[in-house]
Amino acid sequence: MGNRALNKPADQTTVLVTGGAGFIGSHTVVELLDRGYDVVVVDDLSNSSQEALERVRALTGTQADGQRGRLTFYKESILDAQALEQVFERHPVDVIIHFAGFKAVGESVQKPLEYYWNNVAGTLALCDVARRHGCKNLVFSSSATVYGEPEFVPITESCPKHTPTNPYGQTKSMLEQILTDLYVGDDEWNVVLLRYFNPIGAHVSGTIGEDPEGIPNNLLPYVAQVAVGKLERVGVFGDDYPTPDGTGVRDYIHVVDLARGHVAALDWMAGRVGTGEALGLGSLAGQPAVDGTRRGVGIFNLGTGKGSSVLDVIHAFERACGHEIPYQVMPRRAGDVAENYAACEKARDELGWVAEYDLDRMCEDSWRWQSQNPNGYRG
Ligand code: WQD
Repeated sequence: MGNRALNKPADQTTVLVTGGAGFIGSHTVVELLDRGYDVVVVDDLSNSSQEALERVRALTGTQADGQRGRLTFYKESILDAQALEQVFERHPVDVIIHFAGFKAVGESVQKPLEYYWNNVAGTLALCDVARRHGCKNLVFSSSATVYGEPEFVPITESCPKHTPTNPYGQTKSMLEQILTDLYVGDDEWNVVLLRYFNPIGAHVSGTIGEDPEGIPNNLLPYVAQVAVGKLERVGVFGDDYPTPDGTGVRDYIHVVDLARGHVAALDWMAGRVGTGEALGLGSLAGQPAVDGTRRGVGIFNLGTGKGSSVLDVIHAFERACGHEIPYQVMPRRAGDVAENYAACEKARDELGWVAEYDLDRMCEDSWRWQSQNPNGYRG
């Protein structure tokens, strides 16, 4: 059946971005359009807004739907195989960047069926339709959560995967295995698993950013909403961890750095960067194919390699917004680990990618987005 070759110019390459209206997805679409790729977004808008894509069009000067636009949007679920068939019939999809999926850790404990169905079955439907249309190139939005309680930090890609502490993390770990098995069974597949650490920040314009539904579960959007006066104070979940100031340490990475990591993954797949040595599958993976595109499974951490504590984040955000941010120490949150940050040498050496922005810049950009859009995309 063959696979789409990727060793061609960006403006002759069509990228399907599932979940492309979401936080990381929309920032990745900006980077793809800026590099001349044709982009097709499939998003069911269950946790995102079409307004984000309108702002992406404004940022990138992209024509509207219907013309020879470089950005086409379909409001569809990846579970709808018929809708996916239509997308692949209308667009010569060369490669998929797959973000679509439910991602709230706490919610996944309450709704395991919905999480396994949407995240796992949805990915299976997507891969089945893609394969039927001769597209076996996929970049997967994975997560550091697959390491569970890490055996060591900084975490390398060869750190053992432990049982995730929630169904959300289980879906990421399962999907890594499923996508790897697709390659083992058919070496025409070309898969990149990107393990994100903690994505925060916003595009420097302040027009797109993180817009969580309801009360934020994650630290940064919560801090931002306290800073803008929507919430009263930050609850610091524990200050008795074995860390420098007792609060949890994480590897926060700017969402634009993360988006650029996905563009680098396309270059890796196309054989434009890297030697193709991919950990995890040894000699099975990453060998350049005769048509110049790579075959195999590449596994990469996308982080900064630097850990920051909860209090580091709060103080950085105070510098960004120019005023104090009230907080109160609370009991630890179940399932949290003390510290978690990445070893990033592999992405540097293989993808030629390094995160550029520091915590202050992440908070400055996040503050600009939040202060210009106190209600996110809801106006
Ligand atoms: C960060 C730190 C908390 C909120 C999760 C998912 C992971 C990924 C990123 C999707 C911890 C502390 C938090 C608050 C706090 N998501 N905290 N008060 O848990 O590291 O990772 O989001 O891929 O898969 O697990 O991120 O932002 O929730 O927590 O003190 O109100 O902030 O204890 O130390 P986490 P987080």
